[in-house]
Amino acid sequence: MTVLSVNVNKIALLRNSRGRDYPSVLGFVEQVINLGVAGITVHPRPDERHITRRDVYQISEFLQDKPDVEFNIEGYPSDDFLALVAAVKADQCTLVPDKPEQLTSDHGWDIPANREQLKAVLQQLRDSGIRSSLFLDADPRAVDEVPTVGADRIELYTEDYASNFATADQESVFGQYLAAAARATELGIGLNAGHDLDLQNLPKFLEIPHILEVSIGHALVVESLQQGAPAVIAQYLAICGA
Ligand code: PXP
Repeated sequence: MTVLSVNVNKIALLRNSRGRDYPSVLGFVEQVINLGVAGITVHPRPDERHITRRDVYQISEFLQDKPDVEFNIEGYPSDDFLALVAAVKADQCTLVPDKPEQLTSDHGWDIPANREQLKAVLQQLRDSGIRSSLFLDADPRAVDEVPTVGADRIELYTEDYASNFATADQESVFGQYLAAAARATELGIGLNAGHDLDLQNLPKFLEIPHILEVSIGHALVVESLQQGAPAVIAQYLAICGA
């Protein structure tokens, strides 16, 4: 089984476009959990353009009596971000190498170029009892670097997979993901994945063994507008084997 972690950034973006709590991020979190979802992801950015610090605290509090639901916070490891992750004791922290002004995550970590920073941050997360994950491109050579900094998991950046899905290059690109995933498994590193996954491309992606968690936001929200959240979540959970 693969855990579906629903990224609720887009609900916050929609809410922030008007000054009211509508749609309610917490309401959507509650709805998807009631539909059987066992993971919630947020990506608070310094400008709070979607998820705010307040959202992070509220979601964390809401999840306190739901030990079966995992709270994943992703973001660039600034001091502020790490303090927030520690304050709410997230279950998992996914580190992404984003610049603050970046529209969305668009590359994985260059570990050699950031080795000392990553080592220190990952140690800090370990000391706080928070599982760590590193956003990474699907490259076995990048995976080989992970033990040098000590992350528990990696999150394979799936944009390349998604943009080549159902094209002539699908199989060769998929092969890179298979190779990166196999290397991670050999090294005992847990595997997550995310970015641009949707109802169409997820089944093929999950042919890769040992994917523990997928984090999905943009497409899931669009599909929910088209088909309704209950139908969409049911399809995702079926694909994830839940
Ligand atoms: N993983 C990371 C690191 C991300 O930044 C995002 C987007 O916030 C996702 C996964 C989810 O991507 P999408 O919204 O395309 O499903």
